[in-house]
Amino acid sequence: MASLSTRHLLGIKYLNEEDIRLIMDTTTHFKEVINRPIKKVPSLRDITIANLFFENSTRTKISFELAEKRLSADVVNFSASASSVSKGESLLDTVQNILSMKVDMVVMRHPLQGAPVYLSRHIPANIINAGDGTHEHPTQALLDLYSMMEKIGDVRGKKIAIIGDIRHSRVALSNIFCLRKMGAEVRLCGPPTLIPRFIESQGVSVSFDLRETLEWADVANVLRIQLERQNISYFPSLREYSLYYGIDKNLLNSLNSEVVIMHPGPINRGVELSSDVADSDQSIILHQVENGLAVRMAVLFLLATGN
Ligand code: CP
Repeated sequence: MASLSTRHLLGIKYLNEEDIRLIMDTTTHFKEVINRPIKKVPSLRDITIANLFFENSTRTKISFELAEKRLSADVVNFSASASSVSKGESLLDTVQNILSMKVDMVVMRHPLQGAPVYLSRHIPANIINAGDGTHEHPTQALLDLYSMMEKIGDVRGKKIAIIGDIRHSRVALSNIFCLRKMGAEVRLCGPPTLIPRFIESQGVSVSFDLRETLEWADVANVLRIQLERQNISYFPSLREYSLYYGIDKNLLNSLNSEVVIMHPGPINRGVELSSDVADSDQSIILHQVENGLAVRMAVLFLLATGN
């Protein structure tokens, strides 16, 4: 049976093209499974998985937990706010205590970049990064890729725009790594203050012009403005951001071709996307969420069976 080249999913940068194709193929299998009348399979029976969320989440947390339950794993959930972390316990102590209870895999979201890599060097469990600070969110990039492929086929040579707050986005970096490994052309668009300097070294182009970018793109993956990560002002006001970089139906209707609209969520409605765009036929946002379940089942299955 084919297996991944790594025993953790710490970031897309650690995967090769064959790994990504294997995850896509396995996702197709699990997508068929979750659409059966009986959605549960015994693949991870006797495997125990801890979901450690040190930062808030709706989609990723629910999706991982459901994926684990659909695979018949035993699941324990941990959230930092309701734990002894609030009494000063360190990350390593917290995780080592949980692992003493014979946990096989850890899914972790953490506000600090590199926290999952740090853990992978100190504990024997398989680690899956569910988002670390502004660094990577690998399962989001994989579900984004799967959703794009469902809509436009193989992404090799296709034009994918990533629009908005690139500077603070782990989704952006994981998407860049993933799409470039799969041969897509990637263009970043947003205010100059929200595009990191020298990002072109990652093989992407940059535009500050939203209309030009949307005219160019087959797909636009629109990102949330992450006000909670901005300790200084990167633009004058949300109203001004929306005026220059918000996408509404009038703008979409005035383009020469139809662009697929994606967003990882949560959406700031009326800021980066108007509701009539987010809820339109051009948007595949809810398909992304649905595909997230199958992608996470695929990743959990491949890492557990690769051991
Ligand atoms: N897309 C995403 O990571 O959403 P959550 O923060 O709700 O998990």
